[in-house]
Amino acid sequence: MIQKQKGCNDIYGREAKIWKYVESVIDAAMEKYNYNYIRTPIFESTELFHRGIGESTDIVSKETYDFVDRGGRNITLRPEGTAGVVRSYIENKMYGDPNQPVKVYYNGTMYRYERPQSGRDRELTQFGMEVLGSDDPITDAEVISLAVNIYKMLGLKEIKVNINSLGDKESRDNYRKALVEYFRPHINDFCDDCKTRLEKNPLRILDCKVDCDKDVMKNAPKTIDYLNDASLKRFESVKEYLDIMQIKYEVNPSIVRGLDYYNHTVFEVEAKVEGFGANNVLGGGGRYNGLCDQLDGPETACIGFASGVGRIVKALELENVKLPIVDDVDLFLMYVNEDEKKYAIYLAQELRMAGFIVETEYTGRGLKGQFKQADRLNAKYIAVLNSEDLDNNEIRIKNNQTKEEELISLDVLIYYLDEKLNTGCEDEYCDCDDEDCHCGDDCSCEGDCHCEHDHHECNCK
Ligand code: HAM
Repeated sequence: MIQKQKGCNDIYGREAKIWKYVESVIDAAMEKYNYNYIRTPIFESTELFHRGIGESTDIVSKETYDFVDRGGRNITLRPEGTAGVVRSYIENKMYGDPNQPVKVYYNGTMYRYERPQSGRDRELTQFGMEVLGSDDPITDAEVISLAVNIYKMLGLKEIKVNINSLGDKESRDNYRKALVEYFRPHINDFCDDCKTRLEKNPLRILDCKVDCDKDVMKNAPKTIDYLNDASLKRFESVKEYLDIMQIKYEVNPSIVRGLDYYNHTVFEVEAKVEGFGANNVLGGGGRYNGLCDQLDGPETACIGFASGVGRIVKALELENVKLPIVDDVDLFLMYVNEDEKKYAIYLAQELRMAGFIVETEYTGRGLKGQFKQADRLNAKYIAVLNSEDLDNNEIRIKNNQTKEEELISLDVLIYYLDEKLNTGCEDEYCDCDDEDCHCGDDCSCEGDCHCEHDHHECNCK
């Protein structure tokens, strides 16, 4: 039997519904913040990632999927989304658009040749957003708030936002020097990766999962102490704007991020729910003012964030968040003979076009089997099509919970179902029985609605 590759996942069944739901919330949030969807290729020239992310980073030095295509070109499957977005920004001259900054978001598969473990896949799905063309700290705060709000909208509560600043080039260079001097006398006690990192990328030593508990690591110099005045002032503004937005965060000097392109603000959002394991960072991002220029574009101040969708789904499961996922069908149409089957085909088509979720029989089961199938599908209503009723322009509809059955005219079927199925508040979480309450669109319940989920856009006052 051919099996899937290590570190890859098949997403199907209920889990696939959760993924779709998460992605729909991401789309809705991005719309509110006015970020435009961008789709860039899954593969790019290898050079883009080497120059963009940095040769000495773990991602580029040991995790990329590289190959030579049939035309002899060096190609890499994207390990992240930022480099491709910046390439596209430059290539499509988006910097020339009068509508600045450019705010975009993406959601797609990325590839990293890592040792597969829980929360660390070789094929992963990331959503992310990038703001290109503004150095104003308002964008740093907005990106952090958008990330946090997406988690909140999904219902996650146990999250923690860690922020830090690496400062501008001068601050970062001074910090780098201080780190090398600090770690040099101790480096023989560190893992082999850290030994190589000392000269190539000393900031990455702080990220090391092997040596993280060493005292010498805990007492390492902190970025904040090496920020020059301008960088410090900038960081203060970001924090002030986050306070205004009531976004809770902690300044954590150990957040340095694993990609070379960062400066100034860096941040990560952690899942604090028990049982997550080591890979509990839901998402991370930061400012990367030098990247555009490094990729032969104009100097452009940018900030962004990305988050693993798989890790979000895991956090939702661990936090036991109740999700408004449709796990039932409105009506199951049953039939026995060929004439009834043809009518089922016709009716299913009509009712689906009218907006109902309709199922019917596909495998030749008898009526008993069809009743069982209707239960498996959580059918709210069932209709056993019967040639005699149909000849009289009638249909028997049964409430599959109460088992009450009614014989109704086919002419009123749509109105009947509409009335039975769309009563009360449309929000699954809303306690309101008020039939006028339709959280999500024109709620007119004026206070009787108890909808707590702001992503359902309840308009009740
Ligand atoms: P990153 O920290 O490398 O940043 O990845 C962001 C998120 O992607 C991680 O926090 C994690 O949730 C998810 N992720 C990364 N690797 C894996 C993996 N092997 N398996 C499962 N999930 C994973 C970036 O990628 C930057 N491009 C973020 C950014 C955007 N910075 C500025 N703009």
